[in-house]
Amino acid sequence: MNRSGLHSMPNVVEIKPGAGLKWNEIRCIDALEGIREIPDKCIDLGFADPPFNIDLESNVNNGKAFSEKKEGTISYYDDLLDPVEYEAWCGKWLSEMIRTCQKVIVYCGNVNVPMFHRIREPLDEIVYFTKFNTIITSCAWAGRYRPLLVYASDKNSFLGRPPGENCKFDTNVIVKSRQFFDKSEERDRKVLRHPCPIDRELIHAILVQMKPRSFLDPFAGSGTTLYMAKKLGVEKWIGFEKNPAYRADHEFLLNKAKRVAVQSKLV
Ligand SMILES: C[S@@+](CC[C@H](N)C(=O)[O-])C[C@H]1O[C@@H](n2cnc3c(N)ncnc32)[C@H](O)[C@@H]1O
Repeated sequence: MNRSGLHSMPNVVEIKPGAGLKWNEIRCIDALEGIREIPDKCIDLGFADPPFNIDLESNVNNGKAFSEKKEGTISYYDDLLDPVEYEAWCGKWLSEMIRTCQKVIVYCGNVNVPMFHRIREPLDEIVYFTKFNTIITSCAWAGRYRPLLVYASDKNSFLGRPPGENCKFDTNVIVKSRQFFDKSEERDRKVLRHPCPIDRELIHAILVQMKPRSFLDPFAGSGTTLYMAKKLGVEKWIGFEKNPAYRADHEFLLNKAKRVAVQSKLV
């Protein structure tokens, strides 16, 4: 197998693309299984926040299970693959995302930037600055900024340096100050059980700037990105999350999105 995992990717398409595609839900299935059902280029924007392969539980929570920290908190997910296996796996889902989505953004964690560059050179990097610089782990990703890697099969359809006509961001950078928790999140956190939901403001900024009509998140986790998509009125969205333990999070957030959706549309 080559390092990228792309060329060696087995051509497994047992499922006819499009056969089972149902929009506007988070399916509890493996991301690869889900994406392979999606026909080519039928989604405007894909956003991936995959496991970073950093042994999340022991790094971030001092080796304690999350369940020990907060009653009712679900544990983590498998975050310690063999590095070669991890790279090959990332190559597979990234290649499927590029096949199915016009534009793809990967929130890869600082620690994985070189690996993603090896797998497939991104068109650009969106640098996302945060106020959050507490060092909670020895891993390099816990710095003040996180890069988001940008891919597209047709580079004219997306960012490039210098920004082209279709570029939706004026520079190649989103500068974003993160409030650690906004009030609603704090309230939600009493209910949500996922250990590492992504910053809602970041997703809000991306969706507002890019205005996708369809959106995919293959690693939905608690469902933050799909919540924002639904809330902002993205017509068609779909997510996959393999751990059924987070179903209650999805239900909570998607129901909440239903209630607030009218307030803020993308148009
Ligand atoms: C970094 S978390 C995503 C967090 C999410 N953005 C949120 O805001 O809650 C990565 C998620 O990917 C899920 N995951 C890991 N491997 C997967 C796979 N093969 N298919 C689908 N989901 C997977 C994990 O269970 C975990 O919830």
